[in-house]
Amino acid sequence: MKAIILSGGKGTRLRPLTYTGAKQLVPVANKPILWYGIESIVSAGITDIGIIISPETGEEVKAKTGNGDRFGARIEYILQEQPAGLAHAVRIAQPFLGDSPFVMYLGDNLVQSDLDLFLEHFHANSLDALTLLCPVANPSAFGVAKVDDNGRLLQLVEKPKDPPSNLALVGVYIFNNTIHKAIDAIQPSARGELEITDAIQTLIDWQSPVEARQIRGWWLDTGKKDDLLEANRVILDSCIDCQIHGEVDDQSRIIGRVHVGEGTKIVNCTIRGPVTIGDHCHLENCFIGPYTSIADRVTLIEADLEHSVILQGAKVDRVHHRIVDSLIGQRAYLTEAPRRPKALRFMIGDDCQIELSN
Ligand code: DAU
Repeated sequence: MKAIILSGGKGTRLRPLTYTGAKQLVPVANKPILWYGIESIVSAGITDIGIIISPETGEEVKAKTGNGDRFGARIEYILQEQPAGLAHAVRIAQPFLGDSPFVMYLGDNLVQSDLDLFLEHFHANSLDALTLLCPVANPSAFGVAKVDDNGRLLQLVEKPKDPPSNLALVGVYIFNNTIHKAIDAIQPSARGELEITDAIQTLIDWQSPVEARQIRGWWLDTGKKDDLLEANRVILDSCIDCQIHGEVDDQSRIIGRVHVGEGTKIVNCTIRGPVTIGDHCHLENCFIGPYTSIADRVTLIEADLEHSVILQGAKVDRVHHRIVDSLIGQRAYLTEAPRRPKALRFMIGDDCQIELSN
């Protein structure tokens, strides 16, 4: 059994963060989203992993993730020149996959369920494909499945206006080698992509054994800001232990589960967990509320923030408003004018969203 993780694509939905970085490397609770997928695959006993990368962000994914040693896996990188679709990614991974059955994992998805039971079901029933499903409120944003009472897949449609059910396709699929023949039989969709849903629909049309199972835990598709904040909340709720590696002075109060990284200094702050703070940060005179992740080398002076994700190297300096539900990009700098400003002065990148209130 092998696995491929799709970490190419354009990532337009998290702009401007993903102008400069891969959306799969955006951290959730200070760990890249992509790594959660790798860990889940490895814990299901699969250690031969191919990661699909794009020319724009591939080098960054490679540099951060490495050859797999840190996960106990062997990772090979497969360059996809154009984001020509999920099925196209499988096609270019074929030399890596050979005739092996495989897990396909979308690198921007976070899925709580263990893969073991699904893999067991796939093998025990000699399936050609097994897809995972989750009921959602907005099925039109996903691939949508219609299944019979025994879990047999009857129909799949990609982002339908009129969804046949509320069951969305989660970004984890298990295939055997017949999927390659099905991919050879499909044409690009209206949006110009080779869709994996069309390839699976082809297997269904060929009466191949194709099933779907609902996942039990949570699933987060982290394409947008609110999804990312929600993923951060869920992971911080379940995975953070209280560990203080840096220095916390006597004036500071640490309440609940708070992780403080190496070389980080906390001076006269109140931090109410769950919160994770990376390495080499400096926090002074701050209140940090629950569900906040602060990446490495962040500086916060007189800041008051909660339910937010602050990326590497960002600086918030004397902002006397509470910052909530925010995503602050790498090396971003936020400050207040020294006196009450008659005018606001900005340097704001493309596609930013700023909300001002009195
Ligand atoms: O998240 C689940 C959804 O993922 C499913 O419900 C849909 O059926 C499925 O088509 C997919 O839809 P998205 O529109 O969310 O896919 P997206 O373009 O965001 O790509 C998913 C991942 O695959 C992302 O990490 C980028 C990567 N990718 C994407 C394309 C189109 C590639 O590596 N190569 C590609 O050509």
